[in-house]
Amino acid sequence: MRLLEEKILSDGEAISKEVLKVDAFLNHQIDSKLMFEIGKEFAKLFANEEITKIVTIESSGIAPAVMTGLQLNVPVIFARKQKSLTLNEALLTTSVHSFTKNVTNNISISKKYLNDNDKILIIDDFLANGQAALGLVDLIHQANATVVGIGILIEKSFQSGAQKLKDLGLRVESLARIESLENGVVNFISEKVE
Ligand code: G4P
Ligand code: NA
Ligand code: NA
Repeated sequence: MRLLEEKILSDGEAISKEVLKVDAFLNHQIDSKLMFEIGKEFAKLFANEEITKIVTIESSGIAPAVMTGLQLNVPVIFARKQKSLTLNEALLTTSVHSFTKNVTNNISISKKYLNDNDKILIIDDFLANGQAALGLVDLIHQANATVVGIGILIEKSFQSGAQKLKDLGLRVESLARIESLENGVVNFISEKVE
């Protein structure tokens, strides 16, 4: 997606060979107009899939997920990373290991928001090693619901996540795919010719 790539080039910062900082429009301050356009793009890509719900994970997946839900006119569920005061009903839970942060967290979704006839679109901001996305897939499968696809804003294609998900037969649509982050320079994998 041109608009997102341009925003990454103008406002993103490659702070190492592995990490892209996008606090200016996604992870801290949010560019709401850009999120709105991203929602339209995902809605277009998954228009034929009869999606019933969107699933994401707090916190940075929520903004693009809500914009996509708005376009598809479906609810958005975000998996929680911390026990909540009010989240006291039966839970689907799985553990997610972050190689980047070297921590393992339990993530949860209340059973009552997913059921076996749901067709789910997963949305997340980053795809690195795929552990967050795989955790969400696990929660959705625990509910016997179907994962229709995964929509990612920024895929770091030099890490293993995209391939892992595709190897499971899952459709992955990434709006920006980064080939490398060498010497502070962001290199994209060029967009498919349409
Ligand atoms: P994985 O799920 O693909 O295996 O990714 P990983 O464990 O490495 O990611 C852990 C956290 O770091 C996630 O955010 C993820 O979005 C974020 N992340 C991974 N790579 C990058 C990067 O290059 N740049 C930025 N800005 N973030 C990255 P989180 O801890 O869940 O936090 P939140 O922002 O969603 O609250
Ligand atoms: Na994040
Ligand atoms: Na995220």
